[in-house]
Amino acid sequence: MSLLIQNGRIITATDDFIADIFVERDKIKLIGANLAINADAMIDARDRYVIPGGVDAHTHMDLNVGAATSSDDFETGTIAAAHGGTTTIIDFPTQTRGKKMRAALDAWMKKAEGKAAIDYAFHMIISDLPDDFLPDMDALVREGITSFKLFTAYPERLMLDDATIFKAMQRAGENGAFICMHAENGSVIDYLIRKFIAEGKTTPNFHPLSRPHQVEAEATHRVIALAEMARVPVYIVHVSSHFAMEEIRAARERGLPVYGETCPQYLFLAQEDYADGSFDGAKYICSPPIRERANQEPLWRALAADDLQVVSTDHCPFCFKEGYRGLPKQKELGKDNFAKIPNGVPGVENRMHLLYQGGVVDRGWSMNRFVQLTSAAPAKLFGLYPRKGTIAVGSDADIVIWDPRKKYTIRAAEHFMRVDYNPYEAMVIDGSPAYVIARGRVIFEGDKFVGKVGAGEFLRRGKSSLI
Ligand code: URP
Ligand code: ZN
Ligand code: ZN
Repeated sequence: MSLLIQNGRIITATDDFIADIFVERDKIKLIGANLAINADAMIDARDRYVIPGGVDAHTHMDLNVGAATSSDDFETGTIAAAHGGTTTIIDFPTQTRGKKMRAALDAWMKKAEGKAAIDYAFHMIISDLPDDFLPDMDALVREGITSFKLFTAYPERLMLDDATIFKAMQRAGENGAFICMHAENGSVIDYLIRKFIAEGKTTPNFHPLSRPHQVEAEATHRVIALAEMARVPVYIVHVSSHFAMEEIRAARERGLPVYGETCPQYLFLAQEDYADGSFDGAKYICSPPIRERANQEPLWRALAADDLQVVSTDHCPFCFKEGYRGLPKQKELGKDNFAKIPNGVPGVENRMHLLYQGGVVDRGWSMNRFVQLTSAAPAKLFGLYPRKGTIAVGSDADIVIWDPRKKYTIRAAEHFMRVDYNPYEAMVIDGSPAYVIARGRVIFEGDKFVGKVGAGEFLRRGKSSLI
């Protein structure tokens, strides 16, 4: 199977030129002007951008969070991702306390195999790390799980104490892996939740009040200090406020290998809009919470200035109403208690749309910066580059043909995500994928899925190329 993409404007994180791309089987074989080659299929990409398939480094498909399971599985979630131009996801096997990380990896392999329509890789969430589990980290790194996520929040399931975080960081430093941190002060949050509930403050608007920006900034500062002592790089996930971002910027100014991601929900949504206490606010409950609007512009500026390096989604959807496509009660579990509302918002389908609109169209970013934030930087950080994250001879043929004249309106009624609302409902995007190609096969033609469920492969990641 071969494919010739003609006359497109090829954009990588560093290049911008018009040429043809010849794809043979799953790889890019040749790039050049006016290639005179016969191919099984041709796409005319004139007047369109030809960009690397997006890499979403933070998703939670089919994740059980206690009373509920995120509503997208690896089939629906990866089809939705592809519709929006993302061709690789990195998801999170989650260790159950007392059990081996290996059991979590096996379980996640089963969830994804035969279902994922695009390639996938994994970070491992560590919730329990007695000394005799430490060699398991080394074994996982050898198998391509080259990053670990640790939590300073969710005491009941995931939170680790500082000594355990430090221990995991040191081990990651020894085996060349990378630590991702969920940074919020879980003990203070736990206290505030219990206090609010005891006072009868049970509506969704108390969720952000139980997780003020100081709990995020404090934990961000603390984990950066722990990483500095352990002499390892650290990547702060889902940065929601400019206070936490400023901790990352300050560390980077001191020359520390500290990286940060933010997510569309923190760039586009505002706490003020969900402050009336109505249950509609449950749709926007995630952790860290959506912040005041004043945080948005500093986060956009941080992305432009490389104070933050990646935009991922933290895609973790839960339906608002019971019964959608036969799914059980999800957000409604917290009708009488905001702390029981499953945390998370959908986003995997719209990350590229939203960054394109907010960055390129509204703020005049270059397409190179857009590519850097949505594919090249996560691919480099997480050991997938140059297989993913660029358009180059020898790279996987994960290619999006982005049409800047194709308007797209975000609507839950039409999206591919298996969730009954979209936080960005009715937003109009001035550009959208015309074709999405994953390892050499066209998998979306406009809004039509023409790929194959189960065609996605597990990616054994290498070590980060930025460290
Ligand atoms: O609310 C969120 N973010 N849910 C997903 C789990 C996490 O902490 O990333
Ligand atoms: Zn998290
Ligand atoms: Zn997450």
